[in-house]
Amino acid sequence: MSQHLWSGRFDSAPDPAAFDFGVSFPFDRRLFEDDVTGSLAWAEALTNAGVLDAADATAIAGALSAILEQGRQDPAWVNGDDEDVHSFVERQLVARVGDAGRRLHTGRSRNEQVSLDLRLYLRRRIPLLQQKLRATITAFADQAERAGDALMPSYTHMRRAMPVLVSHFLLSHAAALRRDHHRLEIAREEANALPLGSGAIAGTGYAVDTAALAVRLGFARVVSNSMDASSDRDFAVSFLHAVSLSMIHLSRIAEDFILMTGEEFGFFELADSSATGSSMMPQKKNPDPLELVRGKAGRAIGHLTGFLITMKGLPTGYNKDLQEDKEPLFDSEDTLAVSLDATAAVIGKLGLHPERTGRAASGLLLATDVADYLVSRGMPFRQSHEVVGAMVRKLLAEGRDFEALSLPEWRESSTLFGDDVTTRVTAAASVRARRTPQSTHPAAVAAALGDLRGWLARGTGL
Ligand code: ARG
Repeated sequence: MSQHLWSGRFDSAPDPAAFDFGVSFPFDRRLFEDDVTGSLAWAEALTNAGVLDAADATAIAGALSAILEQGRQDPAWVNGDDEDVHSFVERQLVARVGDAGRRLHTGRSRNEQVSLDLRLYLRRRIPLLQQKLRATITAFADQAERAGDALMPSYTHMRRAMPVLVSHFLLSHAAALRRDHHRLEIAREEANALPLGSGAIAGTGYAVDTAALAVRLGFARVVSNSMDASSDRDFAVSFLHAVSLSMIHLSRIAEDFILMTGEEFGFFELADSSATGSSMMPQKKNPDPLELVRGKAGRAIGHLTGFLITMKGLPTGYNKDLQEDKEPLFDSEDTLAVSLDATAAVIGKLGLHPERTGRAASGLLLATDVADYLVSRGMPFRQSHEVVGAMVRKLLAEGRDFEALSLPEWRESSTLFGDDVTTRVTAAASVRARRTPQSTHPAAVAAALGDLRGWLARGTGL
């Protein structure tokens, strides 16, 4: 490459190895569309400021539109030995309109241009991730609806805790994904500020109407400080964080279903299409897609951590280190996108074994309900906890559970037990005894599902 955007100051061409090392075009070509969009608007702003005349403005607008069209139709054309996407677009423009193209960069720096491109990129790409989140949430909502009044145990410390509706468990994951949707919206809002007008660092010397330019490009506001703007990548960090947290949620979903579709639990059934076999053990049905989602979470967290460290010691102003923002950002985006697709597919085709979940939801995990029964008969909770603890110890020794007790046996532990105890101490009664809106009471879960459907239809907010 003989000519660079900055060749004038130099006697000799850059060392090819050093130049190649600094090249970002192979990955920032993903910003092509945004770079052209930004340049079209900048050309208009320069025209309105009286920097470009009408003839130049027309020539530039026509050529940029043609470049955009060609790149859209043939993405492989967006290629070459240019340093970065900005150089590529400018080279194409100058090739078409000569000096008019050479005037476009007046008052503008690549430092603000790259920030602009990345902001425009996130603004148009985040909604696509949100759409995939909504598809995954829909898969959980559909499964929750299908689960009806099926019961299962919940777990604390990975030990059986209390009975819950299967639908309540499924909606617990939907609740976390819904926060991710909102978190991405916030990251998008943070990116939604116009950096143009910042110049290389001190601001531009041309009378560009930045407020009008912001409106033209659909930005909610203009950045407040040109020095800050030239090295601010907080919006990229916020995006990486939102993606990481969403990947953590997907990883935990994966872990739950890897366990619960296995032989030991057997609560859910993986569709054959969501599993793979073993080359050696004919009986195996492996949850590879879920394991891969769990594994990829590490990669997203690595991108967040790595980029935070890149940012850590930077002095004020643009530094080339900032070029390291793009690969983690693009890869995180891709990782979340494929992980959401895989999770939605697996969850959508999951089968439920209600007899197994129901059986696991009865037995000694009704102990809290027994204690609550005694409380309803006037015994202080601390005392009932002790009484029931002793009953559990005895039942465990005998290999029995509450359902096996006769009324006289109940009354051996406390004369407060009446003959209604056998109907009140069941998994179904236990979930109906939960009272709060966020609880597993069937009416509360039905309302939560209704609320989720309403939110899916709106597709925005928390
Ligand atoms: N490729 C560069 C980046 O990604 C564009 C900005 C270049 N600015 C500069 N002063 N070298 O950060």
